[in-house]
Amino acid sequence: MISNTIDLYYFTGTGNTLLVARRMVEVFEQNGRIVNLHRIENSDPSAVDLSHVIGLAFPVAAQSTFPLVWDFARTLPDADGTKIFMVDTVSIFSGAIVGPLKRVLVKKGYRPIGAKEITMPGNWFPGKVNKDRNQRTVARGLERASVYAGRLVDGTSHWLRVPVLSDAFYWLNSRPIVWRKLAEIGEKYRVDREACNGCGYCEKLCPVGNIGYDEYPSFGPACQQCMRCIAFCPREAISVPGKKYELYRAVKIKDLLGEWQND
Ligand SMILES: Cc1cc2nc3c(=O)[nH]c(=O)nc-3n(C[C@H](O)[C@H](O)[C@H](O)COP(=O)(O)O)c2cc1C
Repeated sequence: MISNTIDLYYFTGTGNTLLVARRMVEVFEQNGRIVNLHRIENSDPSAVDLSHVIGLAFPVAAQSTFPLVWDFARTLPDADGTKIFMVDTVSIFSGAIVGPLKRVLVKKGYRPIGAKEITMPGNWFPGKVNKDRNQRTVARGLERASVYAGRLVDGTSHWLRVPVLSDAFYWLNSRPIVWRKLAEIGEKYRVDREACNGCGYCEKLCPVGNIGYDEYPSFGPACQQCMRCIAFCPREAISVPGKKYELYRAVKIKDLLGEWQND
């Protein structure tokens, strides 16, 4: 059985992972656990409490996850059997995260107790957003999140490893060139100056401090393509030249900002 206090560290770009994390918190709390929800981008990995159970929740990106999530996991302190679990949200396929992450954590002395990948709607420049289908996908995803949280509570979850293929995918997808190419797209984000009202949310939302602000936002070279600024701009003023897509977001901006006020 999972012990009493759980620190769940999450990153979300457009809200899918936040929905999953919240659902899991509900189930943990219904089962008498104390849960602290932390944003990965605001947390100091060296300060994690190793006497608690640690959870990591994040989106899949480039079949793995964002460098900012990897940086957090890699800089967690060495542990002596601290229980740890992961959950990711994925639109189609990952392949380069479950095995490699387990290896890193085991080497640091953590005890992996569960890993789950949950299918949620795609958020990376979705051509056309099918709201009905997305709603069904989210409902199924949240149901799976409940079941998984229940398994973590009763001790029947597992963190399987997919050795060879997973490591090969990880090798491919962790190449700096992959993230440079994604960052290049981010540098080309365009702001519709008629629509932008200078609210500054995009700057506040960016998890890597890549958005500067003068009269209008400007984009630096460190974008990880989490899609937050595009998805949550209240005026839908940020776009990418040459890409045709509809906006996707799973929560409202106030949900995202509200969650942060609890930090
Ligand atoms: C830059 C980027 C890369 C992505 N790569 C993948 C991928 O390789 N495989 C996949 O199935 N989904 C991929 N996705 C989709 C997301 O993993 C998925 O929609 C996730 O639920 C988003 O979670 P969030 O709303 O918490 O950010 C990608 C999304 C982004 C923004």
